[in-house]
Amino acid sequence: MAVNENLRTPIVSVMGHVDHGKTTLLDMIRGSAVAEGEAGAITQHIGATEVPIENIVTKCGDPSLKDRFIVPGLLFIDTPGHHAFTSLRSRGGALADLAIVIVDINEGFMPQTIESLHILKRFKTPFVVVANKIDRIHGWNPNKNSSFLASYNKQSERVKTDLDNKFYDIVGELYNLGFNSERFDRVGDFQRNIGVIPISAVTGEGISDVLMILLGLAQKFLEGSLHYTAKSPGIGTVLEVKEEKGLGTTIDTILYDGTIKKGDIIVVGSLGDPIQTKIRALLKPRPLSEIKAEEKFQQVAEVTAAVGVKISAPNLEGALAGAPVRVVSPETIDAITAEVKSEI
Ligand code: GTP
Ligand code: MG
Repeated sequence: MAVNENLRTPIVSVMGHVDHGKTTLLDMIRGSAVAEGEAGAITQHIGATEVPIENIVTKCGDPSLKDRFIVPGLLFIDTPGHHAFTSLRSRGGALADLAIVIVDINEGFMPQTIESLHILKRFKTPFVVVANKIDRIHGWNPNKNSSFLASYNKQSERVKTDLDNKFYDIVGELYNLGFNSERFDRVGDFQRNIGVIPISAVTGEGISDVLMILLGLAQKFLEGSLHYTAKSPGIGTVLEVKEEKGLGTTIDTILYDGTIKKGDIIVVGSLGDPIQTKIRALLKPRPLSEIKAEEKFQQVAEVTAAVGVKISAPNLEGALAGAPVRVVSPETIDAITAEVKSEI
């Protein structure tokens, strides 16, 4: 098996309580430092980063993976964990094909951990749980970028017991919420059990395990649902409305279905009547860069889902974060405009 060009990139939402390490985990995966640049290290908007399969394979350190997995990469969505952002978390959850729920292994479950799990249950989204910050366990001896098991096996018995106890608290919390879970390496059937992966987003321990399990889940759960008809009209969601020098008002968008082209007519949700406008430019962030933080966008003629893309077009001033973006034709414009209006 090899990468199938006709498969849509799966969308992976990263969810969890404030400060449990969502942005740091994504920084580790993409090799960046977005978390450090955030005000008070608090994420306030949804972000999106495309990680090509080549980079995932390199991080996993196993070149044969590229032949075993068929997805072209993963589109990671970063969500804010602060309690004020429930609607953004819900939006991130609704978009996701797969999710990572991150929990600080030393703090355990907190209100937004539970809220994230409720959102995923509601949308029936397959997910893994990541037990982060294992490097903070007293006496932990870090092994940079190692797999979890390789590093765990090198720890003292006392440290192992400490980790196991904290780990089984998380398994217990999941059980109370109706989820059967086990350490990822002991899960035989990911349809029946949630895999829990102990990691450190700072030392990189366990990151390769997270990526491998995500690819496995994508393969197992999504193969049938990821196909797209390459030319179907694009459907997306507005992440953010932004003023850009030289471009005027633009919308950062997650395209989750179909294709969108320069020159297409789109309908965008707003508080009043939906906006009908023609795309002047499509701007793509570079692979591995966070759309929120990107400065060097590349102009492209078209993009296909799933992808984060900045759309420049006239009259976007009233566009609403969270609202739908739909590509229309003269035949569909009236019906789709009415649909978009009803969704606000
Ligand atoms: P919000 O977006 O505000 O919900 O937070 P977040 O979940 O994105 O957390 P963030 O990645 O900003 O991390 C919060 C703090 O925890 C930062 O100071 C990180 O450096 C620290 N941190 C994250 N992961 C780890 C880890 O594995 N080990 C240690 N020691 N610190 C970590
Ligand atoms: Mg964050």
